[in-house]
Amino acid sequence: MDDRFNLALGSLEETLNRVLFALTLSNLSAEDAPLIFMNSSFKDMTGCTDAQLGQNCRFLQAEFPNYEARAEVRLALRERRRTQVILKNRRMDGSVFRNFLLLEYIGSYRGFPELALGTQFVLSKDEEDDLNAVPVKDGPLAQAQSAALRVRLERRRIASDSAVRLLQSWCVLNELTPEP
Ligand SMILES: Cc1cc2nc3c(=O)[nH]c(=O)nc-3n(C[C@H](O)[C@H](O)[C@H](O)COP(=O)(O)O)c2cc1C
Repeated sequence: MDDRFNLALGSLEETLNRVLFALTLSNLSAEDAPLIFMNSSFKDMTGCTDAQLGQNCRFLQAEFPNYEARAEVRLALRERRRTQVILKNRRMDGSVFRNFLLLEYIGSYRGFPELALGTQFVLSKDEEDDLNAVPVKDGPLAQAQSAALRVRLERRRIASDSAVRLLQSWCVLNELTPEP
C-alpha cells in the first residue's frame, strides 16, 4: 500500500477493529480526502477490503446522485464541523443500502495528517421514511418519530463521540501534540 495511506495507528488499530460499529478515517490533507483506515465492522458492512484504501469514500455511492447529502458533507468538511446524512450506497457485492453517516472532524496531530472520522450504519427503509417524514428546521435528521429509532440514533451519536475521544486520547497519550 502507498505509504501516504498507511496510518501508523499501532495498538489502537486492534482496538478500532474490535469496535462493533463501522469506523473510517479519511486524510483531509491529501488530494480528494482518501480513505486511510477502515475497521473490520466497516469491511463487514460494505464488503470492502484494504484494497479500497486510497480512494475517496464516494465510490460506495456508485451511480446514486445523493445531491443534498453530498453538498452537506462537502460544506461540513469545508467548515470543519460534524454532520450527519443519509447516503444511498452500494456494497461491493452490488446490493443497495441506506447509509446513515455520522461525520466528525478530528483535526491534525503531529505525525498524522488532518483527519475526519466517519461512522456508518445501515438504515432500514422504514427508518429512512421515518426520518424523512418531518421536515424540521435543524435538518431532516434532527427528529425521528419512533422512539426506538431515536434511541438507536442517540446511541450511534454517543458511539461516534467516543470514537473521536478515543482517537484524540490515544494521540495525547502518545504525546502527539495537536497541530494548529
Ligand atoms: C471519513 C469519511 C467517511 C465517509 N464515508 C462515506 C460512506 O460511507 N459512504 C459514502 O457514500 N460517502 C462517504 N463519505 C463522503 C464522501 O467521501 C464525499 O465526501 C461526499 O460524497 C461529498 O463529496 P463529493 O460531492 O465530492 O462526492 C465519507 C467522507 C468522509 C470524510
